[in-house]
Amino acid sequence: MTAPKKLFIKTYGCQMNVYDSERMAEALGGEGYVETKTADDADMILLNTCHIREKAAEKVYSELGRLKQLKVAKPDLKIGVAGCVAQAEGKEIMRRQPAVDLVVGPQSYHRLPEMEQKARGGAQVIDTDFPEEDKFEKLKRRPKAKRGPTAFLTVQEGCDKFCAFCVVPYTRGAEVSRPADRILTEARDLVERGVREITLLGQNVNAYHGAGANGDLTLAQLIWELDKVDGLERIRFTTSHPNDMMDDLIEAHGTCKKLMPYLHLPVQAGSDKILKRMNRSHTADSYLRLLERIRAARPDILISGDFIVGFPEETEEDFQATLDLVEEVKYGTAYSFKYSTRPGTPAAERPQVDPAAADDRLQRLQALLTRQQREIQDSMVGREVSVLFERPGRFEGQMLGKSEYLHAVHVGNCGRAAGDLARVRIVASRTNSLAGELID
Ligand code: 5AD
Ligand code: SF4
Repeated sequence: MTAPKKLFIKTYGCQMNVYDSERMAEALGGEGYVETKTADDADMILLNTCHIREKAAEKVYSELGRLKQLKVAKPDLKIGVAGCVAQAEGKEIMRRQPAVDLVVGPQSYHRLPEMEQKARGGAQVIDTDFPEEDKFEKLKRRPKAKRGPTAFLTVQEGCDKFCAFCVVPYTRGAEVSRPADRILTEARDLVERGVREITLLGQNVNAYHGAGANGDLTLAQLIWELDKVDGLERIRFTTSHPNDMMDDLIEAHGTCKKLMPYLHLPVQAGSDKILKRMNRSHTADSYLRLLERIRAARPDILISGDFIVGFPEETEEDFQATLDLVEEVKYGTAYSFKYSTRPGTPAAERPQVDPAAADDRLQRLQALLTRQQREIQDSMVGREVSVLFERPGRFEGQMLGKSEYLHAVHVGNCGRAAGDLARVRIVASRTNSLAGELID
């Protein structure tokens, strides 16, 4: 028997890339690969890249420059680039770094085993097509492999919104939803392997409209189908666009017990002038009214968001409108970024904000968001939450898990296993986690 080959995948960027990396690892498992945690002993290295911000491509090239050295000691080592940088850069990657054997765009992962074989044979292979098929359907699985209690499941890819700052519509292509039966089959398989919580993923997940037995399903209808899966205890979804927050989805937040009270709903900015220039097609006010309706359905829901500061032509007054909106919403968690120019997107051509002013705004926004996050976390002390335990903590007998609000919770002398759900009383709030005690 030949020894298994070792695969090292380095994942950058979003949760969809985490899911893709898992599926690529499973597919290459069929080619005799097992995953390793270090690049040094790998027979194949895959960089699963992200192109959303900053000089992402440059970072990939410098990483590739380092990895190339490993080939000196191990000439059979294969190096691949996957993800959105692969999609955006294509052939250019091999031109600039000839040590790369394989370049594969996000829509072509099902062809990876075949590409790997060609690369083993000494060819340089590249595939960045946008095929018409569901790549996940064609990616091999290892159905019996045991899993941890939480999993991602991509249900939708691509985006048709064309926000003026964003590369996603170009790198991931148009919106495509996976058929519901495939998602349900995959969810049942995950549950059989130990999963208790599934996060449905999509760049614009609430625009989901996958085929069902009697026509297309909305995301809420898909969630209700998943609600029937025995053994699945929790459902989450991310990321949503305010304009696709349909009535049935809002209602599900109030009525579906498995749907967790957490919603990531990016607003990006608080000034209507900037929102318009971002091509967001919602206003600050329509966003706030939408949140009112969501909170009416589920009053304790924790809201999370994304923000961009320093978007072209953002004035201090525009930025103040973002701070005002944040004050009003009270975010439980948030991600904020300085605008970064993405070549090929409409905003790249516009007058840019002074970088020092943008830095200063980012700091002020983050200070406010951190304060809000901390206040909401502190307000959990004394409350009862449900915790899904995921793994042992640093201390003997301690277990770590997440509350329904996605707060990290640790419980000492726990006596529970990964995958158990328990009622927990929160007794203290720490920097990035809560301490709790079991309620029995
Ligand atoms: N610059 C800064 N942030 C960006 N995002 C997307 N494109 C850019 C960009 N060019 C942020 C948005 C989005 C998140 C995934 O990344 O806030 O919601
Ligand atoms: Fe990018 Fe906007 Fe689509 Fe989100 S909704 S992926 S920010 S274009």
